[in-house]
Parts: sequence; structure tokens; C-alpha cells
Amino acid sequence: MILTVGNTKGGVGKTTLAVNLAIERARAGRDVWLIDGDRQGTAETAISIRSEAGISPGIACSSFHDGPTLRAQVKLQGGKYDDIIIDAGGRDSTALRAALTLSDALIVPFAPRSYDVWALSDIAELVDEARSVRDGLSAYALLNLAEPKASSTDNSEAAAAVADFPQFEYLNTPLSRRKAFANAAGAGQSVMEIKPHDRKATAELQALISRLF
Ligand SMILES: Nc1ncnc2c1ncn2[C@@H]1O[C@H](COP(=O)(O)OP(=O)(O)OP(=O)(O)O)[C@@H](O)[C@H]1O
Ligand SMILES: [Mg+2]
Repeated sequence: MILTVGNTKGGVGKTTLAVNLAIERARAGRDVWLIDGDRQGTAETAISIRSEAGISPGIACSSFHDGPTLRAQVKLQGGKYDDIIIDAGGRDSTALRAALTLSDALIVPFAPRSYDVWALSDIAELVDEARSVRDGLSAYALLNLAEPKASSTDNSEAAAAVADFPQFEYLNTPLSRRKAFANAAGAGQSVMEIKPHDRKATAELQALISRLF
């Protein structure tokens, strides 16, 4: 499966999610290729930290910053992998557009903040455009950095706002704002690997993975 984690909005957790998903698919025994499509190179840095620390399994990771190269390389090498996870970078880029033409699924992380919800319209337009030239792109909106307090209405309000965008299916497996997510990705690990173990963060990621794969 080719899965892009993308949103034209920055700082919504794309890289954090892409790194966690790639590692967990590899730990499940899949041949995984993580593609960093962002010039910032954060996903690649996380995977370098992982390999320098000698953590197994290693993750195949490449950086392609322009759309034509990304597309050509996935066409050329993609067949060797079970799963390809693309971190497409935080703005409208040729890499993001190319990723959408290749992917089976797009996950759009967004935070429960008004600006993030409004910004869904930009990525929704790109989904429309990709679907106008090809069939078979599933697009999911995923609440990330969700408010961990059950009493908060921020999450449900943000989730409800997704209904305004028929392009997306809302994934009812949000990831909350938890230090473990930030710490794990920064150490090149998934939240299931990192110590101390965060039971709630692990359960959230597990629920998302079960829903997706
Ligand atoms: N669920 C979470 N809980 C806590 N912190 C998180 C979570 N998700 C992401 N973060 C933190 O939020 C910040 C932004 O995350 P990340 O870099 O993954 O976003 P991004 O969408 O890839 O950003 P950019 O657009 O700059 O590429 C980082 O500091 C990251 O550690
Ligand atoms: Mg990023």
C-alpha cells in the first residue's frame, strides 16, 4: 500500500505520524520504504538517529523533494516494498502532488484548532484535482494533537467540521497531544518502542493502524 501523510498546513504532525507508521509496519514484518518529500528532511533525520542507535528493524528511507523525481523513483523501486509511506511536507509542492497521483491513501492530520480546520479546504482541493485524473485515492482526515482531556469539546467540534469536506472520511481513531509521540519520533522510534512506555499513546496508535491496514 502506498500511503501519503500530507497536509498543506505545517506543524500538524505529518512527520511524527509517517515515522511511527513506517516503524510499526516494519515491526509487523513488512518491507517498508519511508520517503521524505520535505526539504526540511525531518523524517530522514529521525531515521538516521534510529540507525545510528542501532535500533532494529532498520527502515529504508529516501528523500525526494521534487515531484517528477519522487514519481519516477516510486515507479522504479516501489515494487520491491510491501508498504511505502510518504511524508509529503507542509505546503503545496510538486512532491505532494506527485505523491497524490501514486497513493492508495492520503491521511491528513489536523489539530483541533480553527486555523487547521479552515486549512483543510486547501488539501481538499488537491484531493479533488488528483481524483479528476485518477480513481482510487482514499482520503482520511485524522485528528492529531487532540486534547487528551475527555471533558474538552475541542475534539468533537473539530471532528464535526470535517463533515464540511466531503473529500475526506473522518478517522475516528484520533491521536492525542502526548509527550510520548514527540519524544519517540525525535528518537527515531515509534511510540510503541520508546521507554518509558505510554500505554494511552500506544493504544491510540494501535487503533489507527488496525483501522488503516
Ligand atoms: N500527537 C502528538 N503529541 C505531541 N506532540 C506532537 C504530536 N504530533 C506531533 N507533535 C509535535 O508537534 C510538532 C510538529 O510535528 P511534526 O513535525 O510531525 O509536524 P509536521 O506536520 O511534519 O510539520 P512540518 O509541516 O513542519 O513538516 C513536533 O514538535 C512534534 O514533536
Ligand atoms: Mg514534517
